Amino acid sequence: MSHKIAPSVLACDFANIQSESEMLNKSEADWFHIDIMDGVFVPNISFGLPVMEAFHKHATKPLDVHLMIKDADPYIADFKKAGAHVLTVHWEACTHIHRTIQAIQAEGMLAGVSLNPGTPVSVLEDIIQDLDLVLIMSVNPGFGGQKFIEGAYKKIKQTKELIQKTGSKALIEVDGGVNAENAPKLIAAGADVLVAGSFVFKSDDPIATIKNLKEI
Ligand code: DX5
Ligand code: ZN
Repeated sequence: MSHKIAPSVLACDFANIQSESEMLNKSEADWFHIDIMDGVFVPNISFGLPVMEAFHKHATKPLDVHLMIKDADPYIADFKKAGAHVLTVHWEACTHIHRTIQAIQAEGMLAGVSLNPGTPVSVLEDIIQDLDLVLIMSVNPGFGGQKFIEGAYKKIKQTKELIQKTGSKALIEVDGGVNAENAPKLIAAGADVLVAGSFVFKSDDPIATIKNLKEI
């Protein structure tokens, strides 16, 4: 299976959601990566459901929603209604992670769990069988445009081993500071989905940049 590319719309021009979405529709991007930040779990507020719905209205590709919010449970059904295909929560932000995963899947979405750079992969041991996706953060969540943290390679390899050992079907996604230089190494380490924000949207030709990442 070839890897997927999920451009993070956090870096796009929010005054032009329609044309930015149409650009992604036309490109070789597989998913739209949607970053939801609450200003509590992470020190930044991005946008919420109405803006996500605006992307959903124009996107012809699945929405990969990355929740950086504390206690997501009350909002799971709302994110389904707003068009989420994958719903990823942070391990660090959920008190009852197993229940949260079940609730996401019961709504008919794929369930992901994300780990901050400081959280070991071993916390996934008892839930890996239930997961559709593991999101390894290669920056501390909260902002686009940060420097890639090298420890991500080791964590991707550890996650891959855990998946193989348990027969889990989970995809491995990596998010933060992804660019053309680290992408080949991330894929070699076992990443199935690359998220890229600034590298795509701040480039001169986002469609060509996405194509280059896809052809690695
Ligand atoms: C960070 C977000 C990322 C971010 C990636 O908290 O989860 O998805 O938008 O942006 P870049 O690729 O610019 O690091
Ligand atoms: Zn993200």
